[in-house]
Amino acid sequence: MSEAHQNVPVLAIDGPSGTGKGTIASLVASHLEWHTLDSGALYRAFAYVAVENDVSPDDVLGLEKLIRTINIAFTQTDTGLKIAADGRDITDQVRCEAGGKRASIFAKIPLVRQGLLDRQRRMRVAPGLVADGRDMGTVVFPDAFLKIFLDASASIRAQRRYNQLKEKGFSGTLRGLEKEIVERDAQDRNRSASPLIPASDAIALDTSRKGIVEVFDEVVTLIEDRLPAA
Ligand code: DC
Repeated sequence: MSEAHQNVPVLAIDGPSGTGKGTIASLVASHLEWHTLDSGALYRAFAYVAVENDVSPDDVLGLEKLIRTINIAFTQTDTGLKIAADGRDITDQVRCEAGGKRASIFAKIPLVRQGLLDRQRRMRVAPGLVADGRDMGTVVFPDAFLKIFLDASASIRAQRRYNQLKEKGFSGTLRGLEKEIVERDAQDRNRSASPLIPASDAIALDTSRKGIVEVFDEVVTLIEDRLPAA
């Protein structure tokens, strides 16, 4: 990584799904006019293309080849982040629950995590980066000037996700969704490669009883304390 990159400030936001990470990350990034890295979208896109190309999680050569050749692009639009693989829009295919499950399986593999590391670090571009995921503060940007770990109870996270998915025509049940969320979190927390854990210097915020605006205000106050010019 070049020195210029290293001087660019990074805000790391980690935590399990349904805590509001992605929403807070994009609100804070627009507030600061910084770049964003949605690392979950990267894992989702990688897993989607792997399955599409019949590359299984134990196919080391196939995974290595895919890491070298995969062409994923992110574009910010008025309706959110668009995810493309080789120029094809795959946003809807990767943003569903199956997409999260698939991503979590491939994200366990050290080779895949290592292979996607540089790609994430290259997003560190002036004037600053807001990165969200599971290991932003622990592994990808350990020198982030501020690390936030968002959490919330599993039932509340499931309810939030359910409301989001319902709008998109999801036909599953709340109970089924909660079970899947708990399973995916357990897989993310218990893996040996970059597990989902707060960095030792992260600030934990429980969003169970807080709305997005309240969490946003708290995060902005923390940023202003550390980056007086923000
Ligand atoms: O944030 P998300 O729900 O889009 O992430 C999907 C999966 O990708 C998540 O269950 C685990 C994996 N992931 C990861 O292992 N490390 C990250 N930094 C981001 C996501």
